[in-house]
Amino acid sequence: LGGQTTRSAVLLVGLCDSGKTLLFSRLLLGKFKRTQTSITESSAVYKAKNERGTSWTLIDLPGHESLRLQFLDRFKGSARAIVFVIDSAIFQKEVRDVAEFLYFLLTDSVISKNAPTVVVACNKQDITMAKSAKLIQQQLEKELNTLRVTRSAALTSQDGSVGGSVHLGKKGKDFEFSQLPMRVEFVECSARSSKGEDGEGDTEALEKSLARL
Ligand code: GTP
Ligand code: MG
Repeated sequence: LGGQTTRSAVLLVGLCDSGKTLLFSRLLLGKFKRTQTSITESSAVYKAKNERGTSWTLIDLPGHESLRLQFLDRFKGSARAIVFVIDSAIFQKEVRDVAEFLYFLLTDSVISKNAPTVVVACNKQDITMAKSAKLIQQQLEKELNTLRVTRSAALTSQDGSVGGSVHLGKKGKDFEFSQLPMRVEFVECSARSSKGEDGEGDTEALEKSLARL
């Protein structure tokens, strides 16, 4: 049997302030919690909402630029799934940074070999300005397509691999997430309620994805 049976971590990754730590609290306790920017990981057992009663180790990673890659490096080998959290309310402004981090993750040789499910969580849907999962997916496909051209023009070695990274998607075709070796799902969620701190978030679609792992 391959390692897929032994990999039991679900990683929460994404840029600073996208809502990873609040989602962590919502998924584990169903509660709102005041958060501060994370400087290290936190982990806890998460019981999936399915009949098999599966449990995963949910790990919240820091999003700060100077920390995110070293933490990803440390935990990527144990990932059964990666929840890539996006702040949908300011997506337009961050699209380039989001795409660069996602590109790095999807072309990582360990991640593309293990092929954990990637769930792109379009968070903060309680905010009126939030972009839909569909629009975010389309814009990311466009942006990743552009990045792929500029990156490979700059770096390609003879066998097509670039220092521990692999080519993104199908060569000679516009990039689409469906070309990747791993399953990529887009879901909408909000870790915070529009009714304030006492209200419930909406993590149903995300929990459904985690129940299917
Ligand atoms: P780092 O630890 O710095 O990487 O950030 P993070 O991704 O863990 O973000 P965190 O969970 O700390 O949330 C950042 C801010 O966004 C906090 O003020 C949260 O209350 C707020 N927030 C998180 N999720 C949501 C959401 O779904 N809707 C709204 N309106 N605010 C949210
Ligand atoms: Mg955090």
